[in-house]
Amino acid sequence: MSKTIVIIGGSSGISAALADRLLAEGHRVLTRCRREGPGEWAPFDAADEASELVLPDHIDGLVYAPGSINLKPFKGLRPNDWQSDWNINVMGAVRVLQRAEKALLASGSGSVVLFSTVAVGTGMPYHASVAASKGALEGLCRSLAAEWAPKIRVNAIAPSITDTPMAQRLLSSPEKKDNSKQRHPLQRIGSEEELAGLSSFLLSEAAAGLTGQILRPDNGLGSLRLL
Ligand SMILES: NC(=O)c1ccc[n+]([C@@H]2O[C@H](COP(=O)([O-])OP(=O)(O)OC[C@H]3O[C@@H](n4cnc5c(N)ncnc54)[C@H](OP(=O)(O)O)[C@@H]3O)[C@@H](O)[C@H]2O)c1
Repeated sequence: MSKTIVIIGGSSGISAALADRLLAEGHRVLTRCRREGPGEWAPFDAADEASELVLPDHIDGLVYAPGSINLKPFKGLRPNDWQSDWNINVMGAVRVLQRAEKALLASGSGSVVLFSTVAVGTGMPYHASVAASKGALEGLCRSLAAEWAPKIRVNAIAPSITDTPMAQRLLSSPEKKDNSKQRHPLQRIGSEEELAGLSSFLLSEAAAGLTGQILRPDNGLGSLRLL
């Protein structure tokens, strides 16, 4: 059955791969981000309170993709770093979800997908600001899943490093990519397509029993120690 899916994002990375996948499956896809995206695109800046989010009256699925990888030693994190991570990871999602609630309710079986990070469940140096804001997003995910049950499911995906434009700086040479793979028990890093596949699953009826969950496609980094 064709669904109406709104993606905050869609112009690059995981959300672009997801938009392509959902369009190929015959869904109606509305992308909302700053650069032009696939499907029915309209400009939107999730970091800007004044930016208008144009939505249809009925939404079956909503994906909030904006995020940040702002890695700095704790002593170098200025108030502005904390504020901008909080604004894009938490307040942007809050504004979008408040705006979309009525349209998601109109679906009768709405599904929301948020993005966290492996660094919430596993302590990593230089991740203080992003882990604090994504940790809040995980709390928001569980709270809203409870408040919006049984009509709207809310889940999050907490990946480890994934080969997208956002992670470009950390994967910019074959050596960096190889080092990153070696840090993971599965000796690989995630791809846009596999994360798009997991997002598509959470939007589908196959995930009808999942809500308030944080899925962790982290190639084993968060839960395994091999020695
Ligand atoms: N890549 C990784 O290694 C990794 C690891 C852990 C978690 N994550 C999380 O996974 C999610 C997706 O990341 P990605 O790697 O696919 O990132 P990406 O390649 O940078 O794509 C992000 C998407 O979100 C949109 N976006 C960003 N800021 C926005 C804003 N202010 N308003 C509207 N749209 C905005 C971008 O569109 P515009 O720029 O056109 O606005 C783009 O389409 C993020 O939440 C990230 O924190 C990623």
